[in-house]
Amino acid sequence: MQNSIHKLSEMKAHGEPIVMVTAYDYTSARIIDDIGFDAILVGDSLSQVMLGNDTTIPLTMDEAIHHTRSVVRGASNTHVVGDMPFLSYNSNIETALVNAGRFLQEAGAQSVKLEGGHHICETVDRLVSCGIPVMGHIGLTPQSINQLGGYKVQGKSKEQASRLIDEAVALENAGAYAIVLELIPVEVSKQITSRLKIPTIGIGAGINCDGQIQVMHDILGLFELFTPKHTKQYVDLAKQMRLGLKEYLSEVKDKSFPNNSHSFTSQQNS
Ligand code: KIV
Repeated sequence: MQNSIHKLSEMKAHGEPIVMVTAYDYTSARIIDDIGFDAILVGDSLSQVMLGNDTTIPLTMDEAIHHTRSVVRGASNTHVVGDMPFLSYNSNIETALVNAGRFLQEAGAQSVKLEGGHHICETVDRLVSCGIPVMGHIGLTPQSINQLGGYKVQGKSKEQASRLIDEAVALENAGAYAIVLELIPVEVSKQITSRLKIPTIGIGAGINCDGQIQVMHDILGLFELFTPKHTKQYVDLAKQMRLGLKEYLSEVKDKSFPNNSHSFTSQQNS
């Protein structure tokens, strides 16, 4: 049985940090699940790090469902959050309900994440009333990148900060069970975190959030094109992959692989 949203809220009550990471496939999800993470987000960042798009905007519902389903197969204990793609929840509330329902019914996720503040509160309320737990996401919302004009810190002025606080409170009142705070000043995330009963999950929002989330490819050094300031690279997997793949390539070229130990005779079964 996967961690429930209630476990995450108990963790806030006990001051225990919630640790989340993104994943997009079965193999990674199994490792993350085995280590004991609290929740996995099948982020729409899959559009960039797995599918090679420049932004999250081109991701389709079918692509998101496909990847979420594979993560769910690998996550026996970890809560899995499906990330709703651009325009899959903001054209009208009934469409949002159908699409959010697909994450639970077809993919087996336990909750969904939506970007936005006041304008999505009615949708959040409707989804929650139908039994679909919702994680909010405010601050830098990558699906609005064309509107925001770049991946910039949000909520720096007094007015913007108080708007973010109002949005967080409105999402909590609408029934969200947690909120991602992305790229906002530490003072603002501290205020939001102490104001809300539900957990805040930060990315580029400092130490005062109730939990943290990172894109798996960033912390493992798998995405070589760009490393954001808010991340920390714990290992250099791209380097390790290059080493392993180069060695395989050269061993096949110089005919040192495969050797007898990797081969079969007609007398052997396996
Ligand atoms: O898609 C994603 O990876 C996200 C995280 C950055 C929170 O939304």
